[in-house]
Amino acid sequence: MPGKTPILSRRDALVGAAVTLLALQGCSSSHPRLPGYVPPPLDVSGARSLRAQAAAHGLLTGFALSVPLLQDSEPYRRVAREQCSIAVAENTMKWGAIRPTRADFNFDGADAFVQFCESHNIKMRGHNLCWHESLPRWFLDTATPENARALLTEHIRVVAGRYRGRMHSWDVVNEAVWIADGRPDGLRTSPWLKLIGDDYIEVAFRTARQADPAALLTYNEYGLEGESEGDQQKRIATLLLLRRLRQRNVPIDAVGIQSHIKARSLHGYGPSLRSFIQSCKSMDLEVFITELDVDDRELPSDSGHRDAGVAATYADYLQATLAEPNVKAVLTWGVDDAQSWLNQRSRRTDNKPQRPLLFDQDFRPKPAFAAAAAAFAGRSNGRRPQNPHSGSLQDRHSQSL
Ligand code: G3I
Repeated sequence: MPGKTPILSRRDALVGAAVTLLALQGCSSSHPRLPGYVPPPLDVSGARSLRAQAAAHGLLTGFALSVPLLQDSEPYRRVAREQCSIAVAENTMKWGAIRPTRADFNFDGADAFVQFCESHNIKMRGHNLCWHESLPRWFLDTATPENARALLTEHIRVVAGRYRGRMHSWDVVNEAVWIADGRPDGLRTSPWLKLIGDDYIEVAFRTARQADPAALLTYNEYGLEGESEGDQQKRIATLLLLRRLRQRNVPIDAVGIQSHIKARSLHGYGPSLRSFIQSCKSMDLEVFITELDVDDRELPSDSGHRDAGVAATYADYLQATLAEPNVKAVLTWGVDDAQSWLNQRSRRTDNKPQRPLLFDQDFRPKPAFAAAAAAFAGRSNGRRPQNPHSGSLQDRHSQSL
């Protein structure tokens, strides 16, 4: 593909128009390769921020944040405090970061994340209380069927209890479905399932509700987004899991759709994903877009065209998902391209770093920023008038939008 000049697709042209609209508010430079194409304005604070545009339409928005970068980089901190109404710690609230030994809890990173967010009026997602990854060595060496349930409940009580009443939501269980493991229920044969049995999920949610009754308890999953057969199977298994939890009155309030999506995906995103979100609504579950980023490996090397293709994918995906009123938050998995996990795990064949996020490596807003802002602005306000003296847990949280 390198060297071939792809014709801007309708979507790319649409995004260019969205970008132009925003740019007319404050930027005149033009992109050398795409006639009439201008990047978004460099000043995207205040009313132009994602936070402001999302709030006007019943949405929370923000990023996964790296605590070391919050501590070391003022540009990073500036973008985070300007753009986020909600944030999640990318790694510092995982088992691997908090549990150096079985006896010790290290909250330095988690406390720094909480302190930053609370000082800038940013709501917080906790990620995550139970996952098959990021398990410390001592756990893998010492957990047994006899002690695993106690290890899980103790961890949740101490960690979720520490921030009781301060968290918007917790990813209580992360990525429990994996069809390839061949179980009839589609569950992943994770260390937790092997050690405790398939009721580990129920144990985790019930313990989390006791530890923090105010937090929206979330099941977080990837691979739910596309029109492929594999994603459809995963959606079916996930809905069966959610229905089983509902039938057993397990406390669960929301579903996180991670949304690690691809530009020029073979199957695209839309009808089946919207149907899944509607099924969540029928179970009175809110939906959060929890880890949005766009893998650009299928796009040409040229950064201008890549940025247009990534922006078009954001535009399509957010237009589809934000049409559903129970989608209440959109977070990207990272602030700027330089920090994206995709550049550790999914390198391009031309060896150029991926450009999957809304800000470039110099913290300049990209066309994807304009696409996200336009998608927020294009959403009819999905909020219902709230009676402040009643309503479910979800309503209480949505009132605080
Ligand atoms: O902090 C240590 C550092 O001390 C050490 O020197 C270094 C050596 O490798 O490792 C550092 O820890 C790394 C950690 O990120 C912090 O940078 C881990 O090795 C590395 O595995 C970890 O990767 C994270 C991954 O989850 C696994 O926890 C990625 O940054 C993070 O983006 C990724 O995020 C996940 C979500 O939690 C769940 N959904 C999928 C998403 C992408 O995989």
